[in-house]
Amino acid sequence: MEKKEMIYEGKAKKVYATEDPNLVIVEYKDDATAFNGLKKGTIAGKGVINNQMSNRMMAMLQEHGISTHYVQELSERETLVKKVQIVPLEVIVRNASAGSFAKRYGMEEGVRFEEPTVEFSYKNDALGDPLLNDSHALALKLATRQEIDQIRSMALAIDRLLTEFFRSIHVDLIDFKLEFGRLPDGTIVLADEISPDTCRLWDSDTHEKLDKDRFRRDLGHVEEAYQEIMRRLTKAK
Ligand code: TMP
Repeated sequence: MEKKEMIYEGKAKKVYATEDPNLVIVEYKDDATAFNGLKKGTIAGKGVINNQMSNRMMAMLQEHGISTHYVQELSERETLVKKVQIVPLEVIVRNASAGSFAKRYGMEEGVRFEEPTVEFSYKNDALGDPLLNDSHALALKLATRQEIDQIRSMALAIDRLLTEFFRSIHVDLIDFKLEFGRLPDGTIVLADEISPDTCRLWDSDTHEKLDKDRFRRDLGHVEEAYQEIMRRLTKAK
């Protein structure tokens, strides 16, 4: 499958058309941003790791009955995916307090929840991705009631599968962000990526951060953290 014109460039990926109107090619960049693009940098080798990790996670989820956009890895940085219309919601699942949750509710980081939380942000850079609830999403016509219910139940099923997988490589899945898309027939599928850019991944014993928080918070050893996750993934069953 050949790349045709670029149809979209985001902060971490480019999307290209192909000769098949239902398929696009995603190319992962090493560019990193944080705080809605305010902080910019590069993480050498990130694009390769995020591409390979995301594909591995999507394939695993698919084997467990989760529909995703994933079709085929084409190269180190490029993957063929189904073309979707992205639902403009950032779907965040949390198993423990961290990041904006810890800040908003004045809580220390790393406190485990009895049940995972699911929250939505309106995917809108100009507005700074504001938090919203179901009725706000309905009022803004971002998704239907049925789609919101399905997205929430898929997000929780994905959380169970990812948590178990990461446990097997000695990583605690603290929280993560998902995006969903609609196929032409309206089917909802998991889209975007699952990577250290979009998950908080802590070593199970030392609680060392092995994710993009090292970049966001200037903790150093950013590349090494991505490489360590990839090393563990490669060894996983
Ligand atoms: P938060 O605690 O900053 O709300 O982030 C929750 C999770 O979502 C965390 O794993 C990082 C991920 N995330 C993204 O993937 N993209 C974003 O733009 C933000 C703000 C968070």
